Amino acid sequence: MKKYLYVMLSLGVLFMLVSCAQKPVKTIENLKEGIKGETTASAKYAAFAEKAREEGNDTVAIFFDAASKAEAIHAANHTKVLEKLGEKLEAFTPQFEVKTTVENLQAAIDGENYEETVMYPGFIKDAEAEKVPDAIKSFTWAMDTEKKHEIFYKEALAALQTGNESTLPAGYEVCPVCGNTYAEGNVDEKCAFCQTPRDKFEKI
Ligand SMILES: [Fe+2]
Ligand SMILES: [Fe+2]
Repeated sequence: MKKYLYVMLSLGVLFMLVSCAQKPVKTIENLKEGIKGETTASAKYAAFAEKAREEGNDTVAIFFDAASKAEAIHAANHTKVLEKLGEKLEAFTPQFEVKTTVENLQAAIDGENYEETVMYPGFIKDAEAEKVPDAIKSFTWAMDTEKKHEIFYKEALAALQTGNESTLPAGYEVCPVCGNTYAEGNVDEKCAFCQTPRDKFEKI
Protein backbone atom coordinates (compact mmCIF):
# COMPACT_ATOMS: atom_id res chain seq x y z
CA MET A 1 0.00 0.00 0.00
CA LYS A 2 2.83 2.33 1.02
CA LYS A 3 4.67 1.49 -2.19
CA TYR A 4 1.53 2.23 -4.23
CA LEU A 5 1.15 5.64 -2.58
CA TYR A 6 4.81 6.41 -3.20
CA VAL A 7 4.46 5.55 -6.91
CA MET A 8 1.31 7.68 -7.28
CA LEU A 9 2.96 10.60 -5.49
CA SER A 10 6.05 10.37 -7.71
CA LEU A 11 3.88 10.27 -10.82
CA GLY A 12 1.99 13.33 -9.58
CA VAL A 13 5.21 15.27 -9.02
CA LEU A 14 6.52 14.19 -12.43
CA PHE A 15 3.27 15.31 -14.11
CA MET A 16 3.48 18.71 -12.38
CA LEU A 17 7.10 19.17 -13.48
CA VAL A 18 6.30 18.23 -17.08
CA SER A 19 3.25 20.49 -17.29
CA CYS A 20 5.18 23.41 -15.72
CA ALA A 21 8.03 22.94 -18.17
CA GLN A 22 5.59 23.03 -21.08
CA LYS A 23 3.75 26.20 -20.02
CA PRO A 24 4.63 29.12 -22.30
CA VAL A 25 5.38 31.30 -19.27
CA LYS A 26 6.51 34.43 -21.12
CA THR A 27 3.63 34.28 -23.60
CA ILE A 28 1.11 33.95 -20.76
CA GLU A 29 2.59 37.09 -19.14
CA ASN A 30 2.63 38.87 -22.52
CA LEU A 31 -1.00 37.94 -23.22
CA LYS A 32 -1.98 39.39 -19.84
CA GLU A 33 -0.04 42.60 -20.53
CA GLY A 34 -1.53 42.76 -24.04
CA ILE A 35 -5.08 42.36 -22.71
CA LYS A 36 -4.48 45.12 -20.15
CA GLY A 37 -2.97 47.41 -22.82
CA GLU A 38 -5.75 46.81 -25.35
CA THR A 39 -8.55 47.10 -22.79
CA THR A 40 -7.05 50.35 -21.50
CA ALA A 41 -6.59 51.68 -25.06
CA SER A 42 -10.21 50.84 -25.89
CA ALA A 43 -11.55 52.69 -22.83
CA LYS A 44 -9.13 55.58 -23.34
CA TYR A 45 -10.10 56.10 -26.99
CA ALA A 46 -13.81 56.02 -26.08
CA ALA A 47 -13.11 58.80 -23.55
CA PHE A 48 -10.99 60.69 -26.13
CA ALA A 49 -13.93 60.45 -28.59
CA GLU A 50 -16.24 62.01 -26.03
CA LYS A 51 -13.72 64.80 -25.37
CA ALA A 52 -13.28 65.43 -29.12
CA ARG A 53 -17.07 65.83 -29.49
CA GLU A 54 -17.10 68.23 -26.56
CA GLU A 55 -14.43 70.31 -28.34
CA GLY A 56 -16.38 70.23 -31.63
CA ASN A 57 -13.99 67.82 -33.38
CA ASP A 58 -16.67 65.36 -34.50
CA THR A 59 -14.68 63.88 -37.40
CA VAL A 60 -11.68 63.10 -35.18
CA ALA A 61 -14.12 61.57 -32.67
CA ILE A 62 -15.27 59.06 -35.29
CA PHE A 63 -11.75 57.68 -35.63
CA PHE A 64 -11.35 57.43 -31.85
CA ASP A 65 -14.59 55.36 -31.89
CA ALA A 66 -13.27 53.09 -34.64
CA ALA A 67 -9.91 52.58 -32.90
CA SER A 68 -11.70 51.90 -29.59
CA LYS A 69 -13.69 49.15 -31.31
CA ALA A 70 -10.54 47.63 -32.84
CA GLU A 71 -8.67 47.56 -29.51
CA ALA A 72 -11.63 45.79 -27.86
CA ILE A 73 -11.38 43.10 -30.58
CA HIS A 74 -7.64 42.71 -29.88
CA ALA A 75 -8.30 42.35 -26.14
CA ALA A 76 -10.99 39.71 -26.82
CA ASN A 77 -8.67 37.78 -29.17
CA HIS A 78 -5.79 37.77 -26.64
CA THR A 79 -8.26 36.69 -23.93
CA LYS A 80 -9.38 33.68 -25.98
CA VAL A 81 -5.76 32.58 -26.41
CA LEU A 82 -5.04 33.05 -22.69
CA GLU A 83 -8.10 31.01 -21.72
CA LYS A 84 -7.13 28.27 -24.17
CA LEU A 85 -3.84 28.04 -22.27
CA GLY A 86 -5.87 27.50 -19.09
CA GLU A 87 -5.04 30.91 -17.61
CA LYS A 88 -7.06 33.92 -16.49
CA LEU A 89 -6.30 37.60 -16.02
CA GLU A 90 -6.88 39.02 -12.55
CA ALA A 91 -9.34 41.98 -12.41
CA PHE A 92 -7.84 45.40 -13.10
CA THR A 93 -8.99 48.99 -13.64
CA PRO A 94 -7.79 50.83 -16.78
CA GLN A 95 -5.80 53.96 -15.89
CA PHE A 96 -5.47 56.88 -18.32
CA GLU A 97 -5.67 60.65 -18.54
CA VAL A 98 -7.96 62.72 -20.77
CA LYS A 99 -6.49 66.07 -21.86
CA THR A 100 -7.20 68.27 -24.90
CA THR A 101 -7.87 66.51 -28.22
CA VAL A 102 -4.50 67.63 -29.63
CA GLU A 103 -2.75 66.17 -26.57
CA ASN A 104 -4.94 63.05 -26.68
CA LEU A 105 -3.98 62.47 -30.33
CA GLN A 106 -0.29 62.76 -29.45
CA ALA A 107 -0.75 60.31 -26.55
CA ALA A 108 -2.54 57.91 -28.93
CA ILE A 109 0.31 58.18 -31.49
CA ASP A 110 2.89 57.44 -28.76
CA GLY A 111 0.87 54.47 -27.48
CA GLU A 112 0.37 52.92 -30.91
CA ASN A 113 4.03 53.47 -31.78
CA TYR A 114 5.23 51.71 -28.63
CA GLU A 115 2.91 48.76 -29.27
CA GLU A 116 3.88 48.28 -32.90
CA THR A 117 7.65 48.91 -32.61
CA VAL A 118 8.49 47.49 -29.17
CA MET A 119 5.73 45.60 -27.40
CA TYR A 120 4.25 43.34 -30.10
CA PRO A 121 7.54 42.55 -31.89
CA GLY A 122 8.88 41.34 -28.50
CA PHE A 123 5.70 39.38 -27.75
CA ILE A 124 5.82 37.72 -31.18
CA LYS A 125 9.46 36.72 -30.69
CA ASP A 126 8.61 35.12 -27.34
CA ALA A 127 5.55 33.33 -28.78
CA GLU A 128 7.67 32.00 -31.65
CA ALA A 129 10.32 30.72 -29.21
CA GLU A 130 7.61 29.12 -27.03
CA LYS A 131 5.72 27.83 -30.09
CA VAL A 132 2.27 29.31 -29.44
CA PRO A 133 0.77 29.86 -32.94
CA ASP A 134 -2.54 31.28 -31.63
CA ALA A 135 -0.64 33.98 -29.73
CA ILE A 136 1.58 34.76 -32.73
CA LYS A 137 -1.58 35.28 -34.82
CA SER A 138 -3.37 37.44 -32.25
CA PHE A 139 -0.28 39.59 -31.58
CA THR A 140 0.40 40.00 -35.31
CA TRP A 141 -3.18 41.09 -36.07
CA ALA A 142 -2.94 43.68 -33.30
CA MET A 143 0.53 44.90 -34.34
CA ASP A 144 -0.48 45.32 -37.98
CA THR A 145 -3.64 47.20 -36.95
CA GLU A 146 -1.69 49.53 -34.62
CA LYS A 147 0.57 50.49 -37.54
CA LYS A 148 -2.50 51.70 -39.43
CA HIS A 149 -3.91 53.43 -36.36
CA GLU A 150 -0.69 55.39 -35.89
CA ILE A 151 -0.95 56.69 -39.47
CA PHE A 152 -4.63 57.66 -39.03
CA TYR A 153 -3.84 59.44 -35.76
CA LYS A 154 -0.94 61.34 -37.33
CA GLU A 155 -3.20 62.44 -40.20
CA ALA A 156 -5.86 63.54 -37.70
CA LEU A 157 -3.35 65.55 -35.66
CA ALA A 158 -1.93 67.25 -38.77
CA ALA A 159 -5.47 68.08 -39.97
CA LEU A 160 -6.42 69.59 -36.61
CA GLN A 161 -3.26 71.65 -36.42
CA THR A 162 -3.82 73.09 -39.91
CA GLY A 163 -7.57 73.59 -39.55
CA ASN A 164 -8.34 70.89 -42.14
CA GLU A 165 -10.48 68.49 -40.16
CA SER A 166 -12.99 68.34 -43.03
CA THR A 167 -10.41 66.50 -45.18
CA LEU A 168 -10.39 63.50 -42.81
CA PRO A 169 -12.41 60.33 -43.60
CA ALA A 170 -16.04 60.64 -42.54
CA GLY A 171 -16.26 56.99 -41.48
CA TYR A 172 -14.37 53.75 -40.98
CA GLU A 173 -14.90 50.00 -41.26
CA VAL A 174 -13.52 47.60 -38.66
CA CYS A 175 -12.96 43.87 -39.23
CA PRO A 176 -14.74 42.07 -36.35
CA VAL A 177 -12.26 39.17 -36.42
CA CYS A 178 -8.86 40.92 -36.28
CA GLY A 179 -9.63 44.61 -35.68
CA ASN A 180 -8.12 45.76 -39.00
CA THR A 181 -9.36 49.31 -39.57
CA TYR A 182 -10.18 50.86 -42.94
CA ALA A 183 -11.02 54.43 -43.88
CA GLU A 184 -14.28 54.78 -45.80
CA GLY A 185 -13.73 54.69 -49.56
CA ASN A 186 -10.53 52.64 -49.25
CA VAL A 187 -11.81 49.25 -48.08
CA ASP A 188 -10.65 45.81 -49.30
CA GLU A 189 -13.31 43.27 -50.32
CA LYS A 190 -11.65 40.83 -47.92
CA CYS A 191 -9.70 41.80 -44.80
CA ALA A 192 -6.04 42.03 -45.76
CA PHE A 193 -5.02 40.47 -42.43
CA CYS A 194 -7.53 37.66 -41.83
CA GLN A 195 -9.54 37.33 -45.10
CA THR A 196 -12.91 38.06 -43.48
CA PRO A 197 -15.33 39.29 -46.20
CA ARG A 198 -16.18 42.97 -46.20
CA ASP A 199 -19.92 42.42 -45.60
CA LYS A 200 -19.01 41.34 -42.05
CA PHE A 201 -17.12 44.60 -41.29
CA GLU A 202 -18.56 46.98 -38.73
CA LYS A 203 -19.24 50.49 -40.05
CA ILE A 204 -18.30 53.31 -37.67
FE1 LIG B 1 -4.60 50.79 -32.10
FE1 LIG C 1 -9.55 40.97 -40.32
